[in-house]
Amino acid sequence: MERKSMERKGEGMDKNEIKAATCAKAVEDLVKSGMKVGLGTGSTAIHAVREIGLLIGAGKLTDIFAVPTSFQTLMACETWGIPLYTLNSKEINGALDLTIDGADEVDPNNYCVKGGGGALLLEKIVAYASAAYAIVADESKAVDHLALRFPAPLEIVPEARVSVIQAVEAIGASAVLREAVRKAGPVITEHGNLLLDITFRSPVDPALLERELNQIPGGVENGFFTRLSPRVFIGRADGTVEVRPAASDGSISVMRSGPK
Ligand code: A5P
Repeated sequence: MERKSMERKGEGMDKNEIKAATCAKAVEDLVKSGMKVGLGTGSTAIHAVREIGLLIGAGKLTDIFAVPTSFQTLMACETWGIPLYTLNSKEINGALDLTIDGADEVDPNNYCVKGGGGALLLEKIVAYASAAYAIVADESKAVDHLALRFPAPLEIVPEARVSVIQAVEAIGASAVLREAVRKAGPVITEHGNLLLDITFRSPVDPALLERELNQIPGGVENGFFTRLSPRVFIGRADGTVEVRPAASDGSISVMRSGPK
């Protein structure tokens, strides 16, 4: 699969190949032996998990302490032989060196919407406990304004469903209860809650909304991620990866790398 991906560089990679190649670059750039690493969820982040597993298997990464953000990622870590911990483990003690994750949308400030896979609660807890944060996304995720097209999820306690929907509608947004696929009724999150998918009609202030949505009684956590400045890796079909620096990188320039 790697060889096919390399051969296709420059001639148009498909989305899965873009995700794999971009995650490989993020892991190569950021993950070092001895790190405590948060591992995100979804069809992109899973490539980073696999890459880390391959490097551990090859003896190129050692002493990795991984904290998964979902059952999906936990099972992938088991498959790839990645040592598993929780944020509460003595070895982790509530703080990580780095988290790598995917996103549903990324804006020019490196703010994100996440939670399309329903794992936003643990994803945010893990991300906000990390000294460094990286987002990997294919170019379709880069937008000018968040939550106009792809909804920002809000995880809510089930008893507050109607009152939270009313509160969200009162700020001019639309809120739709996320329905399960191949199970009757709503999605139940890994923490026993429901998800509302919220879309806006015009551009919003994501940092303000991240704070405000959590003020609604019954709101547990929302999918706006604005309090970190992640390094963002955006993969393109021509094989290039645009790296948007984190604020802590001390540079506002955009670095590009790609097929030689
Ligand atoms: C999981 O809940 C999400 O936050 C994912 O990180 C996000 O939806 C991106 O998923 P994909 O990589 O599958 O698009």
